[in-house]
Amino acid sequence: MFTFAPTDGQSRAELHIDLLEAAKALTEGEPDGIANMANLAALIWQYLPDLNWAGFYRMVGGELVLGPFIGKPACIRIALGSGVCGTAAATATTQLVPDVHAFPGHIACDAASRSELVVPVIRDGAVIAVIDLDSPSPDRFDEDDARGIEALATAIATRI
Ligand code: SME
Repeated sequence: MFTFAPTDGQSRAELHIDLLEAAKALTEGEPDGIANMANLAALIWQYLPDLNWAGFYRMVGGELVLGPFIGKPACIRIALGSGVCGTAAATATTQLVPDVHAFPGHIACDAASRSELVVPVIRDGAVIAVIDLDSPSPDRFDEDDARGIEALATAIATRI
């Protein structure tokens, strides 16, 4: 049994520090990338409040393909440059979207999503996946979230 869990009253920055430590501990020594992505999605869901989707899209054959996640069933394939995920992957940059309805080409997998954070996972200079977080609240994600998930992406880039 794993007993990772956030504590009541933690600030957003503190939650990210603990999430990162939990992510490193949970994936350490495990070579199976799918198992690690599944546990990472579960950890993100557990530590970060107010999400309706959290998970991975993997770069496969030049497009993004759905990976382990928590949330409603989602679109399976996303072309590079399409939507928030495809933009993050094509540009290798974090996409912090306070209002998904204002993002040109946003792909709605869950109509409840109002804001989104997508962070590329980069290994050996190439984008190998993106971490996608959706929230039903507008403007849910801030710079602490962006920096926190970027640190997570760096830490797990060789483990997925
Ligand atoms: N909204 C994303 C698609 C993936 S779902 O949110 C899970 C996008 O625009 O790329």
